[in-house]
Amino acid sequence: MTLRMEKVSKVFRDGPNEFKALDNVTLDVKEGEFIAVIGPSGSGKSTFLSTAGALLSPTSGAIMVDGRNIEKLSAKKKTMLRLEKIGFVFQSANLIPYLTVMDQLRVVNVLAKNKQRYETEEELLRHFGLGDRLKNFPSGLSGGERQRVAIARALINDPKLILADEPTASLDSKRGRQVVEMLAAEVRDRGKSGIMVTHDERVLDLCDRVLMMKDGQLVEAATVS
Ligand SMILES: Nc1ncnc2c1ncn2[C@@H]1O[C@H](COP(=O)(O)OP(=O)(O)OP(=O)(O)O)[C@@H](O)[C@H]1O
Ligand SMILES: [Mg+2]
Repeated sequence: MTLRMEKVSKVFRDGPNEFKALDNVTLDVKEGEFIAVIGPSGSGKSTFLSTAGALLSPTSGAIMVDGRNIEKLSAKKKTMLRLEKIGFVFQSANLIPYLTVMDQLRVVNVLAKNKQRYETEEELLRHFGLGDRLKNFPSGLSGGERQRVAIARALINDPKLILADEPTASLDSKRGRQVVEMLAAEVRDRGKSGIMVTHDERVLDLCDRVLMMKDGQLVEAATVS
């Protein structure tokens, strides 16, 4: 099991006010499984991804990533776990403006001390159709190209778990579908696990399971009517 979440809740406190953004979320994600999470704005989807990816600590419950209980890890070990096991794709590509396409990937390898590598940065970028964009800066790329660089960056350390928050949000439907097809192929062909938050119902057929977030609760979408 790549990811196991057991009765995970997340409460945000703001003075006397409490808000339960995640309510008793239980989920197992197997190798090779690609899961979509849908749900209304404010329902807790991004909070769920950040918690699954050890960016946010849960208020209660247990989270295991690749067999390790992340709650027990020090901040430093959590950072290493994210570098080695998890690939994040954020809604806006979040590229570093002053680095070229190649250097966006290299910086991850430097941080991870080159412990693991997918393949070379260049091979990975070619795989995503960016072979002739290696020396471009983000400002010289189209939205779709930026998003593909962000995905390549998320994959360069060969992570077990890919977490993508609306990776197609800034793309037209054709490009959006291509990006999701690439993520799905990566998960299946390389035995990874993927969770993608999306508002785009037209890409759900590319996923193995569709889950729905509603008021912080995660349920199978098929059971929602
Ligand atoms: N750091 C925080 N402090 C307080 N409340 C927060 C915090 N982060 C998120 N929330 C609240 O938790 C709820 C869930 O937020 P979240 O970002 O997970 O929603 P979402 O489903 O991703 O929405 P969207 O589709 O708009 O991105 C929202 O009501 C939000 O205001
Ligand atoms: Mg969100």
